[in-house]
Amino acid sequence: TNKKIVDKFGRPHTYLRISLTDRCNLRCFYCMPEDGIQLMDKPNIMSLEEIIALSAIFRILGVDTIRLTGGEPLVRKNFGYLVEELSKLGLTLKITTNGILLDKYLDLFQKIGLNKINLSLDTLDKVNSVFITKRDYFDRIMTNMEKALEMDMELKLNFVLIKGVNDKEINDFVELTRHKNLTVKFIEFMPFKGNKWDWSKGVGKQEILDTVSHKFGEVEELVNPKHSTSNNYKVPGHIGSFAIVSTITNPFCSECNRIRLTADGKMKNCLFANSETDLLTPFRNGEEMEELIINAIKTKKYSRDGMDVKMDAEHYEKNRSMISIGG
Ligand code: GTP
Ligand code: 5AD
Ligand code: SF4
Repeated sequence: TNKKIVDKFGRPHTYLRISLTDRCNLRCFYCMPEDGIQLMDKPNIMSLEEIIALSAIFRILGVDTIRLTGGEPLVRKNFGYLVEELSKLGLTLKITTNGILLDKYLDLFQKIGLNKINLSLDTLDKVNSVFITKRDYFDRIMTNMEKALEMDMELKLNFVLIKGVNDKEINDFVELTRHKNLTVKFIEFMPFKGNKWDWSKGVGKQEILDTVSHKFGEVEELVNPKHSTSNNYKVPGHIGSFAIVSTITNPFCSECNRIRLTADGKMKNCLFANSETDLLTPFRNGEEMEELIINAIKTKKYSRDGMDVKMDAEHYEKNRSMISIGG
């Protein structure tokens, strides 16, 4: 078909993020509310076959990239089978993971050509890691990071900046890029249901850049790929690069090409979208999906689901918690 997923602003949507589960083996405080979340009931979660079939429909509608997220995608049962099937759809597959189980899957990833891995890593300090994640997996994660690099995976580290928690480590992460071929992604702290967001805990793009230049001197601006959600930079002479995801201080929505699918089969037009379109129920009822998806994108707002000026607690407290969106 020549049917495409285009919103009211003419933005073609070619990038789908699928959350495979709302479960996770870590408890990062900026993602998982302190009181936990109401976990999804199994019958409401997309089966692997349903994920594959829905992905194929999105493929027909022009989606060329799928990123698997969670919770933690690698805790999903039979994950290996799923990626192997998805890899047959002929699109770019990527994953965002906390890395704990990564060693189990690296060979398979290499075999199927999944080489883009984003790894959540918010500190290089073991004690701090336990504080942030409430679990003690730091050594395993670091070992798996090295394994991924040895296998020449295209690795990005996701570093969510929280003042007083890890902001003193900005330059330690930039230092990693001196000899390692990876990208450090500095991420502005974003608000979701129950994560006690307050921008006074956040660190913005300009502050990050100032901190880096203070130590490393002038940085080089790289060309940003189309639809990029980050600005990309490099310290001259370093092998790797760094990037800044500035959702709060400099949103980058004008070229947004992203759709999200939650583990319970709801389509979200935006990371901050409060209204969702149930795809799983109609799919199970054998309904026609293409029109449904094409119409669902038409309700997409231009930026941050309408939070154009500021982040509004009335708005984001009605969203899901990050753990059940997947970023
Ligand atoms: P690429 O596919 O390499 O561009 O990765 P990504 O940065 O989009 O994905 P990743 O899962 O690594 O997420 C890194 C951070 O970017 C997380 O904090 C996400 O919530 C955030 N992010 C991802 N996509 C979007 C988006 O469309 N809008 C906003 N505002 N933030 C996003
Ligand atoms: N703000 C910004 N980024 C977040 N992530 C999780 N919660 C938040 C938040 N509150 C990031 C994690 C993960 C990615 C998918 O989303 O770094 O790697
Ligand atoms: Fe797209 Fe929403 Fe992210 Fe903006 S905030 S880039 S509209 S998903």
